[in-house]
Amino acid sequence: MDEVTRANRTAWDNAYQHSYVAPTGEPALLAAEHDLLRDILATRPMVVHPQSGNGQDDIALARAGARTVIGIDYSAVTVRETRRRAVAAGAACCYLLGTVPGVPLADSCADLVYTGKGALIWMPDIDAWAREMARLVRPGGHLFVYESHPATELWTREPDRVRIRPDRSYFGRSFVCDDDSFPAHGAVMWQWTLGRTVTAVVRAGLEIRHLEEYPEPFWRMGGIDSTAFQGRLPNSFALLARATDDGLRG
Ligand SMILES: C[S@@+](CC[C@H](N)C(=O)[O-])C[C@H]1O[C@@H](n2cnc3c(N)ncnc32)[C@H](O)[C@@H]1O
Repeated sequence: MDEVTRANRTAWDNAYQHSYVAPTGEPALLAAEHDLLRDILATRPMVVHPQSGNGQDDIALARAGARTVIGIDYSAVTVRETRRRAVAAGAACCYLLGTVPGVPLADSCADLVYTGKGALIWMPDIDAWAREMARLVRPGGHLFVYESHPATELWTREPDRVRIRPDRSYFGRSFVCDDDSFPAHGAVMWQWTLGRTVTAVVRAGLEIRHLEEYPEPFWRMGGIDSTAFQGRLPNSFALLARATDDGLRG
């Protein structure tokens, strides 16, 4: 594990231990996720969720049709907590401690690999990430990513106007998270343009089935209602890709 990834893992362990408050309320997928995953979830897929975080989406996926959800996260603190929450919820979810890439699961084990909502920004190598996702998907299976739009980190969070932060660039390599409301405040976040991410997925051998950008962020940091979130700018995206039936990688 490289030095930045190790430091980020410590930031997440600390956040889960001291400052992170797990979301309350009924776990639920977003409406766009329901729309895009409806047919796949109807087949009762075996789901793998790399970077499963607080596990809320795993419970929602199990309730929406997944046969089993296996979450993987490198924070031992959250793996312990999510195991406890899944048992309490009676959901068919289990958790493994593991780092992406290098997930401790066999090739082609998943009907659906589900990830995102703050996952890609922790990846120092987007091609290695995409190869790992493709490795886990069985032939004919799917990868689904619902993620923060790479442009989101450019917007100021002002209530009455929106500006591009002078210290950020869409084409930047990384930045240090300075949002006090974010659990892993102070961690290094990596930037990947939408084009770079899509190309990595295609190069890993998956076929893109759907790519869409949305104005709504998947999460409003600190509950902020910023001008940047009022419908004119991209703040999240969804990507659905499929592994070819013969399992041939590009
Ligand atoms: C912003 S959270 C989001 C996760 C999840 N989508 C959620 O909504 O809770 C990011 C998670 O990724 C985990 N993580 C970051 N980098 C990782 C890596 N290389 N391998 C495994 N887990 C990682 C962190 O521990 C954290 O739980």
